[in-house]
Amino acid sequence: MGRVPVDCVLRLVLLASALVQPLGCGDSSTSGNRCTAVGSDCSLRQAAQVSGVRIGAAVRSGFEGDAYTRVLVREFDSVTAESAMKWNQTQPRRGVFDFDEADRLVALAEANDMAVRGHTLVWDQATIGATPPYVEEIRDPEEMRAVLSEHITTVVGHFRGRVDAWDVVNEPLETVGSTLYENAFHRALGPSYIAEALRLAHDVDPHATLFVNEVLADAAGPKIEALIQLARDLLADGAPLHGVGLQGHFFGPPRPQELRRNLQELADLGLIVELTEIDIVLRPAGSREAQLEQQRQDYFDVACACLAVASCRRMTLWGFTDRFTWLDGFVGPGSAPLIFNGAYGPKPAYFGLREALAKPASCGEWSYPGSVEG
Ligand code: G3I
Repeated sequence: MGRVPVDCVLRLVLLASALVQPLGCGDSSTSGNRCTAVGSDCSLRQAAQVSGVRIGAAVRSGFEGDAYTRVLVREFDSVTAESAMKWNQTQPRRGVFDFDEADRLVALAEANDMAVRGHTLVWDQATIGATPPYVEEIRDPEEMRAVLSEHITTVVGHFRGRVDAWDVVNEPLETVGSTLYENAFHRALGPSYIAEALRLAHDVDPHATLFVNEVLADAAGPKIEALIQLARDLLADGAPLHGVGLQGHFFGPPRPQELRRNLQELADLGLIVELTEIDIVLRPAGSREAQLEQQRQDYFDVACACLAVASCRRMTLWGFTDRFTWLDGFVGPGSAPLIFNGAYGPKPAYFGLREALAKPASCGEWSYPGSVEG
C-alpha cells in the first residue's frame, strides 16, 4: 500500500461527519464554513473545505484585471499556470530562463493562501509548441539528457517549496491511442525519459508531489488501461511517481461512473489522483436553458466522481470564465465550457459544482470511499 496521506484520513472523518449531521452554516466541524444548502453565499473554496479537497483553476497568461483576479482568489484555493510554466515560456532559448509571469502567479497564490500546481516540465507534441525547437531538434541522447536535467533542475529549483505538485510529464501517451507518444524526449532517450524526469524533479524538491498528467483517459477504454500500466511500470521501476492527473476536457457527455472507476484503479496503486483540467462543453441539444441545466448536472457528477475516491484530493478547472477558454480556439466560439459567464456571473454549473463540494452526501450512494463496487 503506497502513501496514504494524513489529510486523506482527515477527509474520511469529515465525510463521515457529513453523513451523520446536516451541514450547517458556521458548523463548527467545518471550521467556520459558511456553506449551507444551495443558494448560500459561500464560495467554492469554502465548500471544498467541507469535502476536504482543493478546488483549483488554470490561470491564463497575463492574467487579467480586477474582476478576473477577484473571482479567482475568492473562489479557488489552488492555481495552475495555463502556460507560464511551460518550457517555451520558462526557457525559450537554451540557458535563458524567464520566470516573470510564473513568479507573479505564485506571488498571488501565496498572498491568497492558494496552492500552486506546476504545469508542466516535459510536454512535447508536434502541433502544440509548448517545447521550443532547440529542444525538439536534439537527437543525441547525452545532449538531451543534459538539456532535460538543466531544465528540470533549474525550474523545480526556482520554485522549490512554493509549488506543491508538478505535472512532471504531460500526455506521454498518444492523444487518441494507447502507446507512448514519440516525442523528442522519447526519440532521444527512449521510454525511460519519464522515469528520468521524475527522478530529476524529486532530487531537486523531494517534498513536491510528482504527477504524470494525461488527457482523454476519463472513460473506459485502451487509453486508461495503458495509463494504469504505465503507472504500474514506473512504480515497479522505483520511479518517484506520486500521483496521476486525469484531465477533464469533456467535449461530449461525461461518464462519471467510468471516471470514478478510473480514478479508483489508479488510487488502488497507492497513488494520489486529481482531476486536473476540467471544462465541459455545452451539449448541443435543447434550449439554452436546458443546455445550462445539463451542464450543471455534468459538473455535479464529475465532482462526485472525484469525491467518491479518497485519494482524489484536488479538482482543477481549466480556466473559470467563458470569457477566456482555450476551447474557443479549439472547437470554435460559444462552447461555454466553464462555470462563470463572460461577465463573471455564476452559471448553473457553478451551483452544481458547489452543491457536490458543500454536500458530498448529495452525490449519492457511490460517493463515499470504500463503497466502490469493484
Ligand atoms: O504568450 C504568447 C503571446 O505572446 C503571443 O502573442 C500569442 C500569439 O501567438 O501566443 C501566446 O502564447 C500562447 C499561449 O497559449 C498563451 O496564451 C500560445 O501561442 C498557445 O499555443 C498557448 O496555448 C495553450 C496550449 O495549452 C499550448 O501550450 C492553451 O492556452 C492552453 O489552454 C493549453 O492547455 C493544454 C494543457 O497545457 C495540457 N492539456 C491540454 C490543454 C489544452 O490543449
